[in-house]
Amino acid sequence: MPDVGDRIRQYWDRDSETYDRSPSHALTDPVEAAAWCAVLRRHLPEPGAHILEAGAGTGSVTLLLAELGYRVTALDVSEGMLARAREKLAGANVEFVTGPADRPPPGPFDAVVERNMLWTNPDPVGSMTAWREVTRPGGRLLVLEGIEGGLVQGLRERAAELVRRGLGIPHDHHDHYDAEMDAALPLAGAATPGPLIDAVRRAGWSAIRMERLRDVEWARRLAPPRLLNILETPPLVAVAAEA
Ligand SMILES: C[S@@+](CC[C@H](N)C(=O)[O-])C[C@H]1O[C@@H](n2cnc3c(N)ncnc32)[C@H](O)[C@@H]1O
Repeated sequence: MPDVGDRIRQYWDRDSETYDRSPSHALTDPVEAAAWCAVLRRHLPEPGAHILEAGAGTGSVTLLLAELGYRVTALDVSEGMLARAREKLAGANVEFVTGPADRPPPGPFDAVVERNMLWTNPDPVGSMTAWREVTRPGGRLLVLEGIEGGLVQGLRERAAELVRRGLGIPHDHHDHYDAEMDAALPLAGAATPGPLIDAVRRAGWSAIRMERLRDVEWARRLAPPRLLNILETPPLVAVAAEA
């Protein structure tokens, strides 16, 4: 049996076939995309800066960064996910690197951004330490994650599954992680942003601040099918910090 890291990579290679059919993955809703752009501009240096995007996936956030005028290095362990990103970003000022988050290219970068990758990382502190080491002094970290754990979110997800079945909409992913994969992920299933903020601090980043991304949540809940999006949208947070 391959180790957990290999199984995670294989999972995303497979998921790349369907990942972008979810609008919140592909960021095809213009209202949600605009809300994300506001978050990126609020927390990142001026356009023109060189950004490392860790776990860039199919390139949805990468595309927003490129459109805002950033120079992006998009890193991901899954060649399948990055293949989609390459198609989406043909001609853009983006360099693609296939590899694990804890071995980023040398930089130096003005900022590091990630969306929805740290929850699936067996060593988030190690990865964020490696990112700090390739960020110039005073450069930024921007972590964008959903807080998916806890009883209420669990009940909402169960209700959402019933709604999906009723509406005939397939799940956002091709499969679930198995129990061994879940057990290897320190941030998966956290019910508060506390463990995430603690991991940022342990990785040596300073001036740590957090905001709840209510505009992004609102945009997502306004999009159809509304009942499904109201049930499925978890609290979304941005954690920002400095090297
Ligand atoms: C939920 S997807 C998020 C993709 C993208 N950031 C987005 O917001 O749509 C998680 C991504 O993290 C990548 N990933 C998971 N573990 C990784 C690791 N250790 N190093 C680099 N990438 C990783 C996966 O291949 C996948 O593309």
